[in-house]
Amino acid sequence: DDGSVPEHTPKDEFGDLVAALPLRQQSILELRLYQGFWLPEHWVPGTIVFQRRFAPRPDDVILASYPKCGTTWLKALAFATAARGAYPPAGAGHPLRRLNPHDCVPFIDEIFAGGEHAKLDLLPSPRLMNTHLPYTLLPEPVARGGGGCRVAYVCRDPKDMVVSLWHFLRRSKPDLSFADMFEPVCDGTAAAGPVWDHVLSYWRASVARPDRVLFLRYEDLLRDPAANVRKLAEFMGRPFSASEEDAGAVADVVELCSFDQMKGLEVNKPGSGTAGRYRAMPRDAFFRKGVAGDWANHMTPEMAARLDEIVREKLQGTGLHF
Ligand code: A3P
Repeated sequence: DDGSVPEHTPKDEFGDLVAALPLRQQSILELRLYQGFWLPEHWVPGTIVFQRRFAPRPDDVILASYPKCGTTWLKALAFATAARGAYPPAGAGHPLRRLNPHDCVPFIDEIFAGGEHAKLDLLPSPRLMNTHLPYTLLPEPVARGGGGCRVAYVCRDPKDMVVSLWHFLRRSKPDLSFADMFEPVCDGTAAAGPVWDHVLSYWRASVARPDRVLFLRYEDLLRDPAANVRKLAEFMGRPFSASEEDAGAVADVVELCSFDQMKGLEVNKPGSGTAGRYRAMPRDAFFRKGVAGDWANHMTPEMAARLDEIVREKLQGTGLHF
């Protein structure tokens, strides 16, 4: 590839294929059922190109998540950990002090959707990238553990995910009701859902290939961020050395990426420049509350019990619990 912008975008190239997929109009999005998941229509062409053309490298690390489950935090933690040689996390000039995490780690599917995959080829190794796609939709060499590529996934209590998603989408559609968000999550038709199948796809992969797929939880990250940063570093093949530990490098990464520190940065205030795929969103929308259990302020006990029960039933016998 010569890196030039293609004449035909993936949207042109796969328009017929996308148009033939089952369609569901949701309050703010058109969704297409693609390989068992309700993807926003505009994700599908990029997903197809990603599946067909992605060339994994042995030291690639792909960060994965269902939307609103800790993507931004995981991107920050993984970037700070991977780049700690070049950028000491306590340093005043660290990129994460002047860039939003979405500007430090590219969204793979967005790059493919824009027909810009040559950009990924130009990234130096080890590459760090992210996706919201379920494991089963990742390119075949990645999903079968080929190419050595590693995948770190973060999940979150679906109840808090719905609340977070509602707040996020309300920034562009203020009249979006909570029920409009909650019902599709419960019936499995939310964007990138069913959410339980998304989580299970990574859970199963992490059980089968723990060296290739790391399964993290947002709530665990909140409870013990340092332990999870160590886990992430080991998984990425870059464990913290004894001297780094002595120098407080883990705590520095945790502090650099902490909710309060990131939320307070100039770059994460409304009106700041791009945040990649989310450039239309005011920057503070990424850092709302950053806690576990906020669902209790938005759902009745009956709603919570209903979603819990649906998820419990779907996860039954898998060894995964929320
Ligand atoms: P809330 O809306 O519940 O506050 P994503 O990054 O996948 O879009 O997820 C967004 C959620 O992660 C939001 O949750 C946001 O506040 C929270 N978040 C973002 N950065 C964080 C950080 N550094 N530490 C903890 N939570 C963070």
